[in-house]
Amino acid sequence: MLRFETAGESHGECLVATLNGLPAGIPISLSAVNRELWRRQQGYGRGGRMKIETDRAEIVAGVRHSHTIGSPVAIVIRNKDWQNWTDVLPVEDIEGAEDRRKPVTRPRPGHADLAGAIKYDFHDARYILERASARETTARVAVGAFAKALLAQFGIGVLSHVIGVGSARLNAPASWEELVALSEKSEVLLGCIDRESENQMKEVVDQAYRTGDTVGGVFEVVAHNVPPGLGSHIAWDLRLDGRLAQAIVSMQAVKGVEIGFAAEGAASFGSRVQDSIHYDRLERRFTRGANRAGGLEGGMTNGEDVLVRGLLKPISTLRRPLESVDLNTREPALAAYERSDVCVVPAAGVIGEAMVAIVLAQAFLEKFGGDSLGETRRNFEGYREQVKNF
Ligand SMILES: Cc1cc2nc3c(=O)[nH]c(=O)nc-3n(C[C@H](O)[C@H](O)[C@H](O)COP(=O)(O)O)c2cc1C
Repeated sequence: MLRFETAGESHGECLVATLNGLPAGIPISLSAVNRELWRRQQGYGRGGRMKIETDRAEIVAGVRHSHTIGSPVAIVIRNKDWQNWTDVLPVEDIEGAEDRRKPVTRPRPGHADLAGAIKYDFHDARYILERASARETTARVAVGAFAKALLAQFGIGVLSHVIGVGSARLNAPASWEELVALSEKSEVLLGCIDRESENQMKEVVDQAYRTGDTVGGVFEVVAHNVPPGLGSHIAWDLRLDGRLAQAIVSMQAVKGVEIGFAAEGAASFGSRVQDSIHYDRLERRFTRGANRAGGLEGGMTNGEDVLVRGLLKPISTLRRPLESVDLNTREPALAAYERSDVCVVPAAGVIGEAMVAIVLAQAFLEKFGGDSLGETRRNFEGYREQVKNF
């Protein structure tokens, strides 16, 4: 079973991830991991933090001579901003620490501040937001890079693009080649494949900047070349659609998930929604008239591209703060403001890729197993033969 955990706070020393269950022998490139971390930091509308730090992963266990060795992988990503917070968030209480705190007593509507403060019994939401922050996703993206490295061995790719920012929308389908080209860019605006739509998206972000507001949007993750038969219909918790939905909604600020053309389908007739089935005798394989199901039927992959969309709410820290109440005085007060992002949809797409890659890698290893990459490959090739001869 492939499983991972993360630890770390937004302004703490570092983020840490452990990942257990990868077969030995997967080639790992540190620069590929760091490239994913860089992609997570990009996009028009990010706050000042992205300018002060470029994330770098330190792999401290589980990889030797550029390959996984079967033992747990451990990754550390240092927070360069920690140097400004050593006195504010010390591990051991020190003389005068009380005066150096940066308390957050005016909870931000939409953030974890109030619910977390009540639950953990703090009258200062600092410790809550430190962990609730999407800084945590840096560790997820590093883990996702490992999941991608496994999947890549079997020709499976996972990429994303932005299809909506506020009311601005991309109204054309994206090809896999377009997503590959997008992922290779050295400058990222809003992660949209179409320049005109991207400019409209930028205008929406500019409007949010001008008015001290924030804006959400929609990203789409595409998993390409996925074999049929990952996940299963036999039990609720084995259904891959449900597992992908959980992974995507577990992301900070993601409030909705769509598999394939779910919303459009719900407003249409069955005859227009289901993807007709055909057979290519030459290639000896089944083909589909369309991929509105997003590559999943009955909680299993069906061999088409897996399409998962995440619907992101606008960021809850506003330069023009909303009404709140002070946790100590209980008097009305404007919500706290701390340096913050205005739009994070492209970054969320990269995090979404990591989550989808992790869930697919889990399902892949459940099906094919293997302590070494060679063993996994034999099992995979055997199944591929079976599918070919079906
Ligand atoms: C990439 C990314 C960056 C984020 N940056 C911020 C931010 O700068 N300020 C903020 O208030 N929320 C930010 N968020 C959202 C909060 O982390 C999130 O709203 C909060 O933890 C509450 O969780 P919820 O929105 O899922 O309920 C970000 C989310 C993502 C995915």
